[in-house]
Amino acid sequence: MTMHVTVLDHPLVAHKLTILRDKTTPSSEFRQLVSELVTLEAYEATREMSVSPKTVQTPVDTAHGVRLDVNPRPIVIPILRAGLGMLDGMMRLLPMAEVGFLGMKRNEETLDIITYAERLPEDLSGRECFILDPMLATGGTLATALKYVKDHGAKSITAIDIIGAKPGIERLKKEVPEDIDFNVVLCGLDDKLNDAGYIVPGLGDAGDRLYGALSWKR
Ligand code: URA
Repeated sequence: MTMHVTVLDHPLVAHKLTILRDKTTPSSEFRQLVSELVTLEAYEATREMSVSPKTVQTPVDTAHGVRLDVNPRPIVIPILRAGLGMLDGMMRLLPMAEVGFLGMKRNEETLDIITYAERLPEDLSGRECFILDPMLATGGTLATALKYVKDHGAKSITAIDIIGAKPGIERLKKEVPEDIDFNVVLCGLDDKLNDAGYIVPGLGDAGDRLYGALSWKR
């Protein structure tokens, strides 16, 4: 297994991430920033995508370029609910991708992961998979999602998260299945989690900040 973690190191990303963390940033601006940050992450996350030669005629001469290999098409998998806020920003750079969905939530007491929805192609073999989830906290959701896509045949998987926590990364290093290539792309990596499993300092509950607090949750 290879697991590679990239934390974007760029003033634009650091600037936008700081506004995102600020608790006074309203949902409308929060959504916009998440979208912009994911587009910047997508640039890095797609770095290893394979290409084939492609020759075109410019108005002046022949140009030897490339095109992305999209057969089979890459697949983008937002983890509901908060991963949905990242979908637009990702599809802006990869419009030819297919979209699958995984609905997962944490039991807030036990922190166990419950999969409550799944909409994915049966066969993911040979496909580049991009899993979107803003917060890589305990790593539990991502470990469950990884197992899921691997069981469908995926071998090349990239997780795009806005903020990760070191304990979650350490856990994944131990739990990521053998025989897959796994990359994680982050805008920031925080040191710890609190007792409720939130990233510290983090940005709070990403789903609530994107979409507002859920009255039925309380
Ligand atoms: N999920 C969130 O939305 N925020 C965290 O800090 C951890 C998990």
